[in-house]
Amino acid sequence: MTLLAATDIRKTFAPRIKDDPPVVAVDGVDLTIAPGEVIGLVGESGSGKTTLGKLLLRIIEPDAGSITLDGADFRALGAPELRAARTSVQMIYQAATACLNPGLTVDQHLRETIALHRPADLARADDLIAETLAAFRLEGKGSARPRELSGGQRRRVGVARCLLPRPRLVIADEPTAGLDASVKSEVLELMLGGRDPDQAWVFISHELDIVRFVADRVLVMYRGRIVQELPASRIDPRNLDDVDGLHPYTERLLRSALTADVEPVEVPRREASSGGCPYRAECHRVDPSAPLWQRCTEQVPDPVRPGGTARISCHLLTDPETHR
Ligand SMILES: Nc1ncnc2c1ncn2[C@@H]1O[C@H](COP(=O)(O)OP(=O)(O)OP(=O)(O)O)[C@@H](O)[C@H]1O
Ligand code: SF4
Ligand SMILES: [Mg+2]
Repeated sequence: MTLLAATDIRKTFAPRIKDDPPVVAVDGVDLTIAPGEVIGLVGESGSGKTTLGKLLLRIIEPDAGSITLDGADFRALGAPELRAARTSVQMIYQAATACLNPGLTVDQHLRETIALHRPADLARADDLIAETLAAFRLEGKGSARPRELSGGQRRRVGVARCLLPRPRLVIADEPTAGLDASVKSEVLELMLGGRDPDQAWVFISHELDIVRFVADRVLVMYRGRIVQELPASRIDPRNLDDVDGLHPYTERLLRSALTADVEPVEVPRREASSGGCPYRAECHRVDPSAPLWQRCTEQVPDPVRPGGTARISCHLLTDPETHR
C-alpha cells in the first residue's frame, strides 16, 4: 500500500545574484512512502533535502512531476482542497523556533492549530490543550511566550503543533539539530516513540546515527538526485569493511561522519563539465584510465535495482562485471 508517490519531481530556482546560473535544487526525484514507514533523507548541505520535503507537501510548487496522496492527484488540488489536505500532511521545519509567533503564548499556538485543523474539537479545546501540554512535558508553560521557553521546550511546542492534527505524513526537517543529547532523545521519543502504524515520516537529518535508529530505509541525496536507497541498517559509519554495495557518494558521506576515526576518502580533482554522472568530478572509485570512465562522463546513470534490491544510480555498481 502506498500513502504518497512522487515521480520525476523537479525544481530549479532563479539565481539570487543576477548572471549566476539557475540552481537545480531537485532534479528528477522518484519516491514512494507506505503508511507507517519512516524514510531517512540524508545528503550534504545544499543537496536539496529541504526543497524536496517542501515540494512533496506543495509548500513550494514543483516545476514538474506528479504526486499522489492516497492514490489521488495531490498536484491537482486547488487552494481550498489543499488547505484541507494540509491537516493530514505536516512539516516540522528546520528553523522550528522561527515558526512560532513571538507574540502568542503556548496555549494560543495550540488553540490556533486546533481551530485550523480540528475545528470539530474546538468546544473541548481547553482539555485538548491540557492533554497536549502533559504529553509534550510542557505542563505549566501554557501561558509562556516563545522567548520564555528553553530551546528544547520551543522545539516540543513546534512538534506538538505538527502532531496535533494527527497527520498521516510528517516531514521532519532536522528536528533534533542543535539540541543536547538528553533533549534530543526526548524529542525523538515524542515524535516516534509510540510509532503509529498509519503515520509515515520523512526524517531529514545530518545525524546518521539517529537516522539509522529511527528510519526503515534511507534515501541518499546528491545535487538534487537520489543516488542510492538502502536499508537504514547500512547507514553505519562503523561498518565500512564492505563498501561494495555503497554508492561512492554514500561511502564518502559515511566516512565523513567519522573523520576522527576513519581515513577520509581522497577526493580527486577533475574538471567539472556537463553531461554524464553528476558525481564523477568527485568520484574516488573510478580512474579516468578505466574503460568505465567514458560511460561515467557520457551517460547519467539511471536508478537501477540490482538483483531486485534497493535502487542505486552508478554505472560501476549496476554493471560491475562488464566495467570493473
Ligand atoms: N528559495 C530559494 N531560492 C533560491 N535558491 C534556493 C532556494 N531554496 C533553496 N535554494 C537552493 O537550492 C539548493 C538546495 O537547498 P536545500 O535547502 O534544499 O538544501 P538542503 O539539502 O536542505 O541543505 P541543508 O542540509 O544545508 O539544510 C541550495 O543550493 C540552495 O541554495
Ligand atoms: S557512475 Fe561512475 S563516476 Fe558516477 S558514481 Fe558511479 S563510478 Fe563514480
Ligand atoms: Mg535543509
